[in-house]
Amino acid sequence: MTQTNVVDTPQATVAGGADKPHVLVELDHVEKHFGALHVLKDINLKVNKGEVLVIVGPSGSGKSTMCRTINRLETIDSGDIRIDGQSLPQEGKALAQLRAEVGMVFQSFNLFANKTILDNVTLAPIKVRKRNKVEAEREAMDLLDRVGVASQANKMPSQLSGGQQQRVAIARALAMHPKVMLFDEPTSALDPEMVNEVLDVMVELAHEGMTMLCVTHEMGFARKAADRIVFMADGQILEQDTPDAFFEHPKTERAKDFLSKILTH
Ligand SMILES: Nc1ncnc2c1ncn2[C@@H]1O[C@H](COP(=O)(O)OP(=O)(O)OP(=O)(O)O)[C@@H](O)[C@H]1O
Ligand SMILES: [Mg+2]
Repeated sequence: MTQTNVVDTPQATVAGGADKPHVLVELDHVEKHFGALHVLKDINLKVNKGEVLVIVGPSGSGKSTMCRTINRLETIDSGDIRIDGQSLPQEGKALAQLRAEVGMVFQSFNLFANKTILDNVTLAPIKVRKRNKVEAEREAMDLLDRVGVASQANKMPSQLSGGQQQRVAIARALAMHPKVMLFDEPTSALDPEMVNEVLDVMVELAHEGMTMLCVTHEMGFARKAADRIVFMADGQILEQDTPDAFFEHPKTERAKDFLSKILTH
């Protein structure tokens, strides 16, 4: 492990402290339709700096869509989304800049297939952040070391296992120094023996104070790392609670039903 510190400020005071929490991500009355389908219904969500949210809910409930609206991979019909107090710009340079603040890791390994692991990590810092190549490569190596794949730096993505590729995807996102990281089922396409190596990196990030929104079915991770569980069903946020409260005392029938299904597997 190295000295690289991707989280450059101390963990913020979260709700309950004397200081006002620093809200990093805010969704305010967000509505979204896909044609006739109402996928996001009056979504209101605040994520404080340093908070780790785990988003759970049945398939089709809008979890991925919600994540994708946060860096505007999906547009919204109405409402507002703010990153560190700034509304998401419609397009252009301002949007690219704000997007750079939000790192995203998806289910499928979306590394650039024709670039080495090292180039995958340095590409955006050099192009978007205008970092000098030597510096960008030094930091990329530190990040690859942190996620345990420094020895793979000169290989192509197809030469790595799924778990290794997903760890590279995390390093690549961190190389932009994002204010917040979004994870959309980052382990669900992995062979079971590779799930933990990715979750371990995520737990470490959480402990370092990274602000994270994670869609995942990994309830062990949720219990270990989440400050708050957000339960979605039918395009709505039905519950938001601490892991203990949510898992032990779900309030809605939908959540009880959901938990009875996933926890028996
Ligand atoms: N681009 C799209 N065009 C039309 N409908 C879409 C599109 N993307 C998602 N949907 C629909 O929107 C709804 C919400 O999808 P979403 O992918 O956000 O759900 P999810 O909670 O992430 O589900 P899963 O757990 O299966 O990943 C679903 O009914 C889905 O079919
Ligand atoms: Mg999804």
